Amino acid sequence: MSFDAFVSTLAEHKVFFLTAHILGTVLGLGGASIADILFFRFLKDYRISAKECDILGLLKGVILGALGLIIVSGFALYLTDTAYYNASGPFMAKMLIVGIITINGIALHTVVAPYLLRLDLKRHHKRYRSWRRMAFTLGGVSVCSWYSAFFIAMLKSVLPQSFTMLFGGYLATLAITLVVSQLMERRLALMARS
Ligand code: HEM
Repeated sequence: MSFDAFVSTLAEHKVFFLTAHILGTVLGLGGASIADILFFRFLKDYRISAKECDILGLLKGVILGALGLIIVSGFALYLTDTAYYNASGPFMAKMLIVGIITINGIALHTVVAPYLLRLDLKRHHKRYRSWRRMAFTLGGVSVCSWYSAFFIAMLKSVLPQSFTMLFGGYLATLAITLVVSQLMERRLALMARS
């Protein structure tokens, strides 16, 4: 089969790839949101137990699987009209954000996940504090980036089309998220101390 024939087969079945893409979005966005909500719920006793760690690990698997489905189905959608998507500001902004979600996911997987059991807000040693801040930072980047990719994809007809404006808006939202995540870490650590 020639490449052109392959692309026109993809275009004929676009609806299936879009369905898979939306399914991945639902699972990824939902998984990242629930993981963050549970993370704070679990921290009510200022630490993460082995069972809670298992639940977060399960969600991590769902999010990674969803990201894989999104990337494969998204690439198939992209191939149906590469010239159009290459010239689209919202598409390019979304691609950069997907790159950030992927790198951040790898960092969460390698830097945070293996040490979740050590996340004890009652320990005030500098090493624990900086590691904890890292966990809050990466969690914030994850949720902010998932929602930004989703809103850019869904609202592309009403948002500005400029890549610079969209990506700038994302970076501004990310900066606010990072400040809020550090304030939350601070607040929880102070509550644990008292
Ligand atoms: C976190 C990552 C992503 C999210 C949340 C996301 C979300 C979405 C959503 C909700 C739509 C539907 C928009 C509509 O129907 O108007 C969409 C469309 C699309 N996505 Fe994604 N996406 C993501 C990543 C990707 C990736 C990695 C690619 C390419 C490799 C991609 C390529 C596309 C394309 C080409 C369309 C347009 C389909 C069309 O023209 O009907 N997406 N995306």
